[in-house]
Amino acid sequence: MTHPSTDSPAAVHVVSHPLVQHKLTLMREKDRSTSSFRRLMHEVSMLMAYEVTRDMPVQMVEIETPLERTMAPVIDGKKTVFVAILRAGVGFLDGMLEVVPSARVGHVGLYRDPKTLVAVEYYFKMPHDMHERDAIVLDPMLATGNSAVAAVERLKETRPKSIRFVCLLAAPEGLANFHAHHPDVPVYTAAIDRQLNDHGYIMPGLGDAGDRIFGTK
Ligand code: URA
Repeated sequence: MTHPSTDSPAAVHVVSHPLVQHKLTLMREKDRSTSSFRRLMHEVSMLMAYEVTRDMPVQMVEIETPLERTMAPVIDGKKTVFVAILRAGVGFLDGMLEVVPSARVGHVGLYRDPKTLVAVEYYFKMPHDMHERDAIVLDPMLATGNSAVAAVERLKETRPKSIRFVCLLAAPEGLANFHAHHPDVPVYTAAIDRQLNDHGYIMPGLGDAGDRIFGTK
């Protein structure tokens, strides 16, 4: 399901595949164990990887099967770079890498100031040759959107060929904020939830994704 915005090229792709929706529901349950939550995150990120790479360019190359020579498609150009926003984005990364094992990985460290909810950068490391790479930014939760806005702003300084943003859950407020700043960056999400609460959590949501992935609460 795709919802292109009417006044800009910004697009939101809601991955409505039943497998993704089923696993997301399991992840929302508050009594789910850390290991189960982590495994589901891994599985769902693999499925999301299929969607976000769906229109990757391919080129035809000549290969030899056991029977004859033939032309067959391979993914074109330099490697994709997955950009994980620390720390929850890391939980989204393994599944993506399982599907695209040759991808490079960048990291952006941002924390939310608990009072202002503004994103503050503390780490930024990308591969070389970013101008030849397609960047896929990972953060399971697009809540206020402040971290995503700041991460993509910083990433744009490295001039990647293209940028996409993938999350598991988005709040309407976060989507609006993100696309107000980055109308050129499509968002892929498994669901758009109702709203943010006063603490910047997505409702009904799934709680703190980082804590649930890493078992820190
Ligand atoms: N970050 C989370 O992990 N969960 C939310 O609901 C919002 C931000």
